[in-house]
Amino acid sequence: MTRSPTGTKSPADLRPATRLVHGGTLRSQFGEMSEAIFLTQGFAYDSMEQAEKRFTGEEPGFQYARFSNPTVSMFEQRMALLEGAQAARATASGMAAVTAAIMGQLKAGDHIVAAKALFGSCRYIVEDLAPRFGVECTLVDGTDLDQWRKAMRPNTKTTFIETPTNPQLDILDIKAIADIAHAGGATLVVDNVFATPLLQSPLELGADCVVYSATKHVDGQGRCLGGMILGSEKFIKDNVHNYLRQTGPALSPFNAWVMVKSLEVMPLRVAQQVANAAQVADFLADQKQVQRVLYPFRKDHPQYELAVRQMKGGGQVVVFDLADKAAAFRFGNALQIIKISNNLGDAKSILTHPSTTTHQRIPMAGRLEMGIGEGMLRLSVGLEDVEDIKEDLAQALAKV
Ligand SMILES: Cc1ncc(COP(=O)(O)O)c(C=O)c1O
Repeated sequence: MTRSPTGTKSPADLRPATRLVHGGTLRSQFGEMSEAIFLTQGFAYDSMEQAEKRFTGEEPGFQYARFSNPTVSMFEQRMALLEGAQAARATASGMAAVTAAIMGQLKAGDHIVAAKALFGSCRYIVEDLAPRFGVECTLVDGTDLDQWRKAMRPNTKTTFIETPTNPQLDILDIKAIADIAHAGGATLVVDNVFATPLLQSPLELGADCVVYSATKHVDGQGRCLGGMILGSEKFIKDNVHNYLRQTGPALSPFNAWVMVKSLEVMPLRVAQQVANAAQVADFLADQKQVQRVLYPFRKDHPQYELAVRQMKGGGQVVVFDLADKAAAFRFGNALQIIKISNNLGDAKSILTHPSTTTHQRIPMAGRLEMGIGEGMLRLSVGLEDVEDIKEDLAQALAKV
């Protein structure tokens, strides 16, 4: 018998960084050090009887890669250990995770309450897709708890937030919103992308389900799409398990392998990015061309106290306003090292102009209501030397 990757210790008893290096490892008979990529669609059974038992569930084991695969399973186990969740399911992208977590709970006649401040594609799911199947949606200002209370109806099935929000970095009170949802018999789903599982634990604060775009900090190096849904065994079994098996947004084993290996170094990457971001936020706040800086752990952030209460760090995204769209474009075009793109959490620093890219499908009035002005820029701070990042920002600001 091969020795367990964590010896006689249960991975759950280990500290988070150790879990991310050893947790969830499935070793083959070869005893490989690095986790293997099991690039296989199917699995051979020893007998007809065994095949039958795998399908009835009498015998545990893999059947078909749309359902699960050893490499994907390692990624799920490692994420579950990090999040402190009973169960996890990987998906092909973050949007596949959001869609399954929301739509998997709903049927015609249900109602959903969501914060207005959501990533553009997430807004599409609650605002356009769900209503096509007879599910009504109410959008609220996520920071206003009275609006949440008033929006709840007897048929409200679920509530959905992201915090910090993309891109305006509003901080929403996870515990308070979970309490309102539960009092009304609804669940709370939290898109925890901006915080990462290292800086915020929504399940501990009362959320029923956490979703990630693993494309962001989990990969952390801009290579693969991926998503993850985490919750209790019951939440996953009742809402997500069958939905994923039958509709098929499965994560490729190769992408799962990239994510598994990336998790080993995620604490180091994220800690450095957060330290860089805090410095960049302070630097930007001192520049005369910058009208406003938003960073959750700066004292001038509107929800600073809540941020410090529910997060362990301010994140690696800094948002700031220049005078208008022309100034924002002049600035972006003058950058040398920082890239113009729309991902975040990457080792490379990335500048995004939300109103013309990630959030452009929301009409101007809606964007302004969400606080997304034409001069707003989102900076995902990477792993470059922070002095090089600041120098690049300074020379581009001089051209505004
Ligand atoms: C907050 C948030 N949720 C969900 C997604 C969707 O993730 P993906 O691009 O992996 O589908 C993104 C990113 O694009 C995001 O920023």
